[in-house]
Amino acid sequence: MFQEAKLHLYIHPAIQITGIVFGYIALYWGMKRFLKVHNDMSFLFPWKRHVLFGKIAVLLWTIGIGVGIYYTHAEWNNYRLTEEHYRVGMASIPLLLATFVSGYWMDVVKKKRQSFCVAHGVVGLFLCVLVFIQIITGIQVFFLFVW
Ligand code: HEM
Ligand code: HEM
Repeated sequence: MFQEAKLHLYIHPAIQITGIVFGYIALYWGMKRFLKVHNDMSFLFPWKRHVLFGKIAVLLWTIGIGVGIYYTHAEWNNYRLTEEHYRVGMASIPLLLATFVSGYWMDVVKKKRQSFCVAHGVVGLFLCVLVFIQIITGIQVFFLFVW
């Protein structure tokens, strides 16, 4: 199953899965924040850790996309070979950017917010949904092209 010659094809999934661990923890804290602020529930929001984990996730996912495209081209001399996995990957780029820019802004200019904060949370949640789809389509890519 693990062909030595193809080990480099595991770098991209490894980066993305590490990103998923950080991103989903950031999402978990963000959801708690949402419930606290908008539903008056008393949860702790570890602001600094949410920002740190969110930044790590966005950074890893962005690097991972570059690495995935690079190795797809290096291995099969073709972009977009993975079809749906590629398309969902491209769709996640504007969401990565929007989550990062909105989050960065709220972190730097701190004040009480409603809609902007919710918008950041919704975009982040949608990003995490796309990333989940990437796990499924990524496994399909493995079955089709790697194993
Ligand atoms: C995987 C990436 C991320 C997800 C899923 C995510 C999700 C969320 C959610 C659901 C909330 C709560 C929104 C609300 O209460 O309406 C939130 C709040 C927040 N996020 Fe993120 N986030 C991510 C990345 C980031 C990044 C990269 C930054 C900073 C660079 C950041 C900064 C913030 C800040 C400062 C708040 C609190 C805003 C406030 O209450 O005024 N987030 N996030
Ligand atoms: C944040 C989540 C992910 C994103 C945004 C993403 C995006 C991409 C992109 C854009 C490519 C290049 C495709 C092409 O040019 O046709 C790619 C390749 C690939 N992806 Fe993903 N991916 C993600 C997660 C995963 C996961 C979790 C797996 C495995 C379970 C996976 C498996 C693969 C494989 C096997 C390739 C072929 C190239 C290589 O292995 O380096 N991906 N991915």
